[in-house]
Amino acid sequence: MREFLIAGNWKMNGSSTGSAELVAGVLAGMPAGSGFSVLVCPPFPYLSAIAGQVKGSALKLGAQNVSEHESGAYTGEVAPAMLRDIGCEYVIVGHSERRAMYGESSFQVAAKFQAAQAAGLVPILCVGETLDERESGATESVVDYQLGAVIDAAGIGAFSSAVVAYEPVWAIGTGKTATPEQAQDVHKHIRALLSGHDVDVAAGLRILYGGSMKGENAAGLLAMPDIDGGLIGGASLQAMDFLAIANAAART
Ligand code: 13P
Repeated sequence: MREFLIAGNWKMNGSSTGSAELVAGVLAGMPAGSGFSVLVCPPFPYLSAIAGQVKGSALKLGAQNVSEHESGAYTGEVAPAMLRDIGCEYVIVGHSERRAMYGESSFQVAAKFQAAQAAGLVPILCVGETLDERESGATESVVDYQLGAVIDAAGIGAFSSAVVAYEPVWAIGTGKTATPEQAQDVHKHIRALLSGHDVDVAAGLRILYGGSMKGENAAGLLAMPDIDGGLIGGASLQAMDFLAIANAAART
């Protein structure tokens, strides 16, 4: 049985005091129960302090990006082992903002995915189409290509300790959420694609939805059979907003 994962991607927001307050607020309101996990992915400079704050709690910690290299002369980069060392369990790879603004290719994303796993991190692999791609009917071929690069590099077995996030680019930060049916169609397609390689790995894989997810639309999305949680941007920056989504997962 797949457990929900409710993940907050704070992107490049916050401050040291603000992030400590946000985490304190999330910790104070964490829903009780089982069948779901809650994760925050703050900016790099705050990870260590937040690792201390969440220690011993059910709240999990992840990063938003990672180097594909192990160590060495890569100025400004952060190695997977460093993230593991300070207490991260997860890392987002291949977010559309990184693909679009920092030129990350699917091959580089695949290398990051593998490097993360080699260091004991669980990668959250983001895939998704732009509005143009959706309107030209290319949604499935885009996600197939993005996933295919990782399957080719890492093998299907690697998906037994990974998470996929379907994030339609047109729904990110726009207030335009995919309908539960639109999201479910793509999630089902992703699971079917992976099933073609390994039925059990596909059945166990958590596929998150991301793109203007909030308290008001979370229950509808989470009720879909192939939606196993959310990757939340804007609504993860206020404890009450984020907890509303975590509560929807706890109730579903
Ligand atoms: P929003 O929830 O702000 O649309 O962002 C989604 C996202 O990109 C999460 O990674």
